[in-house]
Amino acid sequence: MMTPELWVMPDESELARAGAEIFVRCARESVSKRGRFSVMLSGGNTPKKMLELLAGAEFLDQVSWKVTHVFWGDERLVPSDHPDSNFHMAWEALLQLTPIPPDQIHRVRTELAQAKGVAAVIDDYERQIRDFGSNFDLIYLGMGEDGHTASLFPGTSIPAEGGRLVLATKAPSQPVNRISISPQVISNARQVSVIVSGEKKARTLQSVLEGPFDPKRYPVQWVHSRDGETLWIVDERAASLLSQRLSA
Ligand code: 6PG
Repeated sequence: MMTPELWVMPDESELARAGAEIFVRCARESVSKRGRFSVMLSGGNTPKKMLELLAGAEFLDQVSWKVTHVFWGDERLVPSDHPDSNFHMAWEALLQLTPIPPDQIHRVRTELAQAKGVAAVIDDYERQIRDFGSNFDLIYLGMGEDGHTASLFPGTSIPAEGGRLVLATKAPSQPVNRISISPQVISNARQVSVIVSGEKKARTLQSVLEGPFDPKRYPVQWVHSRDGETLWIVDERAASLLSQRLSA
């Protein structure tokens, strides 16, 4: 396993720019090597600026959208047009502005839960991932203040290697169930990029990167690409308690 790389960016806008540049670089390399680009997006607020940048004139035409496939690392069990939906956020910020073919947008089909329950959503999304081939070119992840990533929260029981690729979870103190990829999907990726911003996450980031390995407590410690690159891109505020500063 390669050692994770850490980039410290001066502020949120430079953080978003670095994330967008990784997207473009990875897309270019993947298309030239394999004729397509597969990317798994994270949810939450941090990625929004990056997605909006990718939709802008500076970046939009640098990506071969016609051969790009988009998945999500997790989703909330809400309708796809709900404001809390990770798909909805990416659609509004970026995807609706690209020429990506609709059947290359592989969203978590949360609507299946109404008639067939959460298990149907999990089975369907796991099938989408397995049918596609679960070695994604690029997986973006965030980190919560509690050290969660995707929707793997502290205490979540993690499927064994070779087990399920998708699981149902629940965010503490939130009413909505979640769907999340397992750490196995993350470690199969060619490149993983964890993007973290804000001083509220500084204490957790210091424990995660410099403290003992305790993924039950800090699930984001599961994050690594087994054979590829693991890149942490953080802003100065989130990095403020780190002892080593390998800046970009
Ligand atoms: C989600 C995300 C989640 C997110 C972290 C950080 O569905 O909420 O996938 O894992 O990345 O909670 O969220 P912020 O970027 O909003 O701080």
